[in-house]
Amino acid sequence: MKTILFDRFGEPAEVLRVGEVPLPKPGPGEVRVRMIASPVNPSDLLVVRGRYGVLPRLPATPGFEGVGVVDEVGPGLIGWLVKGKRVTVINDQGGNWAEYAVIAARQARPVADDLPDEQVASFFVNPATALAMVRYVLAVPKGEWLLQSAAGSQLGRMIIRLARHDGIKTINVVRRREAIDALKALGGDAVISSADGPIEDQVRRIVGADGVKFALDPVGGDTGTGVFRSLAAEGRMLVYGTLSHEPLRIDPRLMIAGTRVVEGFWLGHWMKQRSIPAALRLFGEISRGIRAGILATESGPSFPLDAIGDAVREADAVGRRGKVLLRIGAR
Ligand SMILES: NC(=O)c1ccc[n+]([C@@H]2O[C@H](COP(=O)([O-])OP(=O)(O)OC[C@H]3O[C@@H](n4cnc5c(N)ncnc54)[C@H](OP(=O)(O)O)[C@@H]3O)[C@@H](O)[C@H]2O)c1
Repeated sequence: MKTILFDRFGEPAEVLRVGEVPLPKPGPGEVRVRMIASPVNPSDLLVVRGRYGVLPRLPATPGFEGVGVVDEVGPGLIGWLVKGKRVTVINDQGGNWAEYAVIAARQARPVADDLPDEQVASFFVNPATALAMVRYVLAVPKGEWLLQSAAGSQLGRMIIRLARHDGIKTINVVRRREAIDALKALGGDAVISSADGPIEDQVRRIVGADGVKFALDPVGGDTGTGVFRSLAAEGRMLVYGTLSHEPLRIDPRLMIAGTRVVEGFWLGHWMKQRSIPAALRLFGEISRGIRAGILATESGPSFPLDAIGDAVREADAVGRRGKVLLRIGAR
């Protein structure tokens, strides 16, 4: 089968190549999925750059999520229940940028037929993260302000729509002024640009001198530091990405006086702490959220596996609209 491979960590457009490998066989408790499509997410590119929290042994194939059809199953009941079904392919080892992927049967989740392939391809990572951070971890109360950076990302846009639905007010930070109007039109209550001066000053002009109780940052560096400085006493900030590749600068006095909290969020870790019924409920919540448009992913350009260089360059482009998708096979 055709697959995307990398033999060393580095710039994705330089190190990723198309290769041929033998068709994999599913073992006990596993299924093989014929892949239809897989998105190019920031986490996939971090793995290829060698900057993700958990790294594969090389050579490796990227791709944490996607959509496909279960075509062969190993021994075990769950596999037989999903054989022949279209599933969302949650592959925490990576490996979905290939014509076939072998994953644990319990990670192949059938999804209702009315959801299009592009939505099923991005069914899990961003929608689950939006729900987990806003509704479960921060549990932002109705009427409160929520501050977030990189608000124009696909996940940031889901958070704006989710917050609006849940009666939470958002302050959204973008790096380009040109991105402001689109996020206001999407329902962001306030949208500011990090290009227009210190984030903490801009935020306090909107919410008052105290600052915000709830914040989300996937950027780090100056932006994440500004988000932290915008916190009110007893404020809480979740750090969930490293888009700038720069560290946060945290003034310990602000942590001590006012007991402000900074904590990491990682969906893979959070999911491991969910019971099976809680995970099933989350899946239902995601389906409803996607149907309502709240957790829907906006589609960007799509590419075949053979154009992997163009796909990863496009995924990294400043100001890109929509999620880049690898179109791998027919439904
Ligand atoms: N921790 C977890 O479990 C978890 C789960 C899901 C996602 N994430 C993280 O969530 C983030 C968003 O993911 P996504 O799929 O929604 O991304 P995406 O749609 O690809 O969007 C990336 C966004 O980041 C902005 N950006 C990139 N570099 C930046 C920088 N240095 N400073 C400020 N903004 C920057 C881009 O702004 P422009 O529009 O200006 O180009 C773009 O809006 C990523 O960091 C991802 O790793 C984490």
